[in-house]
Amino acid sequence: MNDERNIKMNIREATLDDMIAMQNCNLHNLPENYQMKYYFYHSLTWPQLSYVAEDEKGRIVGYVLAKLEEDPTTEPHGHITSLSVMRTYRRLGVAEKLMTQSQNAMRDVFNCKYVSLHVRKSNRAALQLYRDTLSFTVQDIEKRYYADGEDAYACRKILRE
Ligand code: ACO
Repeated sequence: MNDERNIKMNIREATLDDMIAMQNCNLHNLPENYQMKYYFYHSLTWPQLSYVAEDEKGRIVGYVLAKLEEDPTTEPHGHITSLSVMRTYRRLGVAEKLMTQSQNAMRDVFNCKYVSLHVRKSNRAALQLYRDTLSFTVQDIEKRYYADGEDAYACRKILRE
């Protein structure tokens, strides 16, 4: 049993003040990293869509960074740019809660019909979370989507009929 299970986690909307801690969390957990201006762009443009998980001391231990995809070739929809949870806080339901909050805001605030994301083919933990827990479906395989040449699963979940 993970010792962290007794720790109270707080999930809340991310603010501009959280962006450095979110970037730090991202750097610890994923090879896909972004410049600070990209975090600010998300927070300033769609403040309702990104969430953080903080521990009882207010330390950011997980985040979801999300946006609205407004590409004219597709219907406007939500998109998960990045999700990660610090290693010692995993398997506590944090990612599931972060994702649910963001998805609800996509549907309720922006009236999104669906949410999309990419995940590495080798990322079994994330794939299980998206497909089995959150009911995303794999729409496509995008060949060599990542900088190191790995393929991505392009996933999607319907938010409203
Ligand atoms: N192995 C198998 N299934 C898993 C795993 C795992 N390691 N982690 C989560 N799941 C599935 C399980 O079904 C789990 O339910 P259960 O614990 O009752 O069995 C369910 O997902 C919910 O898990 P959470 O506890 O909500 O997930 P967690 O908070 O641990 O975060 C995450 C999962 C984000 C994938 C975490 O492992 C992580 O940060 N990994 C590194 C970064 C990463 O891969 N991010 C996603 C990249 S894709 C993107 O950003 C769009």
